[in-house]
Amino acid sequence: MDRRGFVTSGMAAGLAGITGAGSGLPGLIQAGSLGRVGKTLPDGSVKLSSNENPLGLAPAAREAVVDALVHANRYPHDYRGALYDALARSLGVGTNNLVLGAGSTEILQIAVQAFTGPNVPLVVAEPTFEDVPRYQRPFAFELRAVPLTRDMAHDLPRMREAAQNGGRPAVVYICNPNNPTGTLTRSNELDRWIADAPETTLFLVDEAYLEYADDPAYRTALPWIERKRNVVVVRTFSKIYAMAGMRLGYGVAHPDTTARLAEFVIQNNPNVPAAFAGLASLADDGLIARSVAVNAESRAIAHQTLNELGLEYLPSHTNFIMHRINGELSSYIGRMADLGVRVGRPFPPMLGWNRVSFGLPNEMDRWADALKGLRRQGWL
Ligand SMILES: Cc1ncc(COP(=O)(O)O)c(C=O)c1O
Repeated sequence: MDRRGFVTSGMAAGLAGITGAGSGLPGLIQAGSLGRVGKTLPDGSVKLSSNENPLGLAPAAREAVVDALVHANRYPHDYRGALYDALARSLGVGTNNLVLGAGSTEILQIAVQAFTGPNVPLVVAEPTFEDVPRYQRPFAFELRAVPLTRDMAHDLPRMREAAQNGGRPAVVYICNPNNPTGTLTRSNELDRWIADAPETTLFLVDEAYLEYADDPAYRTALPWIERKRNVVVVRTFSKIYAMAGMRLGYGVAHPDTTARLAEFVIQNNPNVPAAFAGLASLADDGLIARSVAVNAESRAIAHQTLNELGLEYLPSHTNFIMHRINGELSSYIGRMADLGVRVGRPFPPMLGWNRVSFGLPNEMDRWADALKGLRRQGWL
């Protein structure tokens, strides 16, 4: 049997063995499941709930993970170094501008821990990605949530006021494009604030969905890190590189700032397979274009369906879209689940809306059929 054959059948069978009766994970890993990455859940549902990339790990990354297993008895130092070098080259920054994490959520967590405090509030938009306020919650430091504008951008003038904090430091989280709305905040406006802000205002700019956005009003905040110590740009391999299950993300900042973040990071991150998959994904020249193309196809199906049903939706600059549901949200989520389609969770205060992540085009067809079924019942 060749190596790939062993991996997709022999190894899956081995995993199925260890997760069989009594393991607490019955049915989660099935024989052959490693060959079905990116397909339906074990119960046959399509998963359109977590903004994952439905393409699955790139073929080169899958092979790299297999190669990595041979090295998995070692601590990751050497492989991590190679990833730091490759990532720094691809971003045009130094390795001392980088800090790697187990997903970008680790970077968000350590940034909250490193920079907020008893007199240092966290300023966020509402709604935005919940992990950031969640990481601050155990510390009981002040959270200042500023509603999005009518066109679903961050309300930068009001966030600016909230961050003034009587001249004391503040941490500002900017999720751009924003999750869960998929909308943009104009980079010119953000740049003006960053240019004027005192160094005591720390900007945590989350660019998890950067590669999906092609609006001329949007660009990365990365250039700021050369001039400002108070800007941390956070990125992930989970979305465009389809590596959500591998857990690899990073922060980019001035070396003084990454040094502070590094004091909080878990030692020996990332793990060896994640580092190998990251290196292979960076080296795959066509990967970003493939992900963007499939995403655009699925977005077109979503637009067509929502137009047909007359359901309002927000402009999507990401791999998901937020749309009206004309009904009660938890019933909607439950009915869609009954039809085998897992859609997004509630995002208060937008309780008349649902976020659906873009799957493969055929998965979007199933979502469209389910929506039309609900409409026929008068539920949508
Ligand atoms: C805006 C945003 N930032 C960060 C993350 C976390 O990504 P990860 O920890 O997988 O890198 C997500 C995940 O959905 C997200 O939507």
